[in-house]
Amino acid sequence: MPTAAEERIVRPARNILGSLRLPGDKSISHRYAMLAAFAEGTSHITNFSTGADCASTLDCMAALGARISRTNENAVEISGVAGHVTPSDQPLDCGNSGSTMRMLSGLLTPQQGSFTLTGDASLSRRPMERIRKPLEAMGAKLTLTEGHAPLRIEGSPLRHIDFTTPVPSAQVKTCILLAGLQTAGTTTVREALRTRDHSELALRAFGATLTRSIDSVSITGPQALHAVDAAVPGDISSAAFFLCAAAIFPGSGLVLDSLGLNPTRATLLDVLTALGAHIAVLNLEEKNAELVGTVQITSPPQGLGSTEVSGPLAAQLIDELPVLAAIAPYTSGGIRIRDAKELRVKESDRISLVVNNLRAMGAEVAEFEDGLDVPGGQTLHGATIDSGDDHRIAMAFSIAALRAQGETLIQGAESAAISFPEFFDLLDLIAER
Ligand code: S3P
Repeated sequence: MPTAAEERIVRPARNILGSLRLPGDKSISHRYAMLAAFAEGTSHITNFSTGADCASTLDCMAALGARISRTNENAVEISGVAGHVTPSDQPLDCGNSGSTMRMLSGLLTPQQGSFTLTGDASLSRRPMERIRKPLEAMGAKLTLTEGHAPLRIEGSPLRHIDFTTPVPSAQVKTCILLAGLQTAGTTTVREALRTRDHSELALRAFGATLTRSIDSVSITGPQALHAVDAAVPGDISSAAFFLCAAAIFPGSGLVLDSLGLNPTRATLLDVLTALGAHIAVLNLEEKNAELVGTVQITSPPQGLGSTEVSGPLAAQLIDELPVLAAIAPYTSGGIRIRDAKELRVKESDRISLVVNNLRAMGAEVAEFEDGLDVPGGQTLHGATIDSGDDHRIAMAFSIAALRAQGETLIQGAESAAISFPEFFDLLDLIAER
């Protein structure tokens, strides 16, 4: 139910029932857009993310010379620049999107010309040193503003490196690989924890050769990319909100079709199973090396149990942790989250916002520098939620609101459109009231 433009009331639900097909994955859409725009030829991408973040990537790539048209709402035709972008005298506006800024920096540093990358207030607070270090080691000329955006690049040929990422980050890994793609010699990225591998899979789909070991990926440049026709799998991080909603209603039943099930992204299914939800995966197939399938979830009559998310699990589930924490009061034994300090430097400080909003709803919760403990067996009441204009916080607390007593007002609800503009409409479809 919309109220003022930026607020939305979410009423409690009786159950979650339905069957949906979700818009395309944000991470994969960013990569397909960037690679198609850089490749030679014309790519056709269907089920492209409808989120504002991926529109930021498309706008930047168009400003850099790619010809881009959205043939219908979710299909995009992209004619690439065949390896040579056109320098833009206007700043490239990455909006709210860390993926756009970090990955595009890697693509642009070996190009000819000067580039300025800007972002909104949230993106301008996020750490960019993590890309400056490896890019400077490659010889790139990159200037930050006190460790942040705006970011200025003077393009020049680079040298290959062998780099170990200090913090697991698929964006940083991708940044280095996109620079390595254009650099003579073999560039290697090593990571202690394996992060999402969409870039590796997408680079191969666009014709590049990479070699991978258990903890590293190498690319020998320079290599050319070639256009593809590809469908983007449904976004499992968007699905997470509805899967968690279904999980907290005994007797629920939800089917999500054509969902991306890349193993580096699907850890939530294991965690929900550990909590007691019944999950079945059907119709599994591979599309451009990405796994896609149908997920069915039902919740057990006795409700959810308890679990801990720490170590490598925390890194793999980083985007899903806000909604897991938001449903934790409705489990019987609670959820303990650790090793998730990265949550503090996302679109907002997600640990702090989750803790404050759970408390606003009357929950008991303990905050730690790298996580939180949420006891189970709690009853929450409706409250005013400060989303901090962070899409995942707005959506996570809309899910918590479904089992609260009374209505919940989500402030900054429009931020859901960063990744999932259809969120509130689809939630109304599956929430029985
Ligand atoms: C993303 C990687 C993750 C994730 C973000 C999308 C990507 O960030 O949180 O939403 O598409 O590569 P980090 O690379 O900072 O871990």
